[in-house]
Amino acid sequence: MKLAASILAADFAHLARDVQRVEAMVDLLHLDVMDGHFVPNLTFGPPVANALRPHTRLPFAIHLMIERPVRYARQFRVGSQDSITVHVEAADPPDEALRVVRSLGCKAGISFRPGTPLEEVLPYLDSVDLVLVMSVEPGFGGQAFLPGALDRIRALRREIGDRAVEIAVDGGIGPENVRAVVEAGADVIVAGSAIFGKTDPAAAARELWARATKRS
Ligand code: DX5
Ligand code: ZN
Repeated sequence: MKLAASILAADFAHLARDVQRVEAMVDLLHLDVMDGHFVPNLTFGPPVANALRPHTRLPFAIHLMIERPVRYARQFRVGSQDSITVHVEAADPPDEALRVVRSLGCKAGISFRPGTPLEEVLPYLDSVDLVLVMSVEPGFGGQAFLPGALDRIRALRREIGDRAVEIAVDGGIGPENVRAVVEAGADVIVAGSAIFGKTDPAAAARELWARATKRS
């Protein structure tokens, strides 16, 4: 398992500081880019992500919750360890968006809303490095985990077969359910409030590791 800390729940006035606090305890940073159209919330875009880039060695997993990923993807400074994930429901055709993302030399991901049938992402399994399963309606941190995600993870795991495609799961994950998400077949756990929403984010990340891996 890999653990990704979602900066949506960090202090945006002290992003570099907050990220450095958890750097030793997580594998990735998850960056939620929202445009106020695809989801009813606004966060940040390429200038903030690019400004944060020199302050951490952690790979960036950029989650684009925006209508026009093709227009903006090229503005992110990314390397081979970083990823950009687009939504299958966005206005741009997923094939084109994934091609643009790949042309940047980073990993490519596809995501889908909890209400979107799994079948809609299956045509892209040969053109992505990861599938991001949303376990909340995209747009806000701190929501409750939708249990239907567990069956979707299991079904996706079967569909992926022996392809080198990771399953990341995003939304509502905390110490109480991280084990179930990993057992269902998640490779990457995304956690925002369960890490940055706590007074000691590094200890909170350590707790997630302990709960995810403890023998039952
Ligand atoms: C929701 C975002 C998530 C969010 C998760 O739209 O995609 O990445 O940060 O936050 P928590 O872990 O608080 O549910
Ligand atoms: Zn996200």
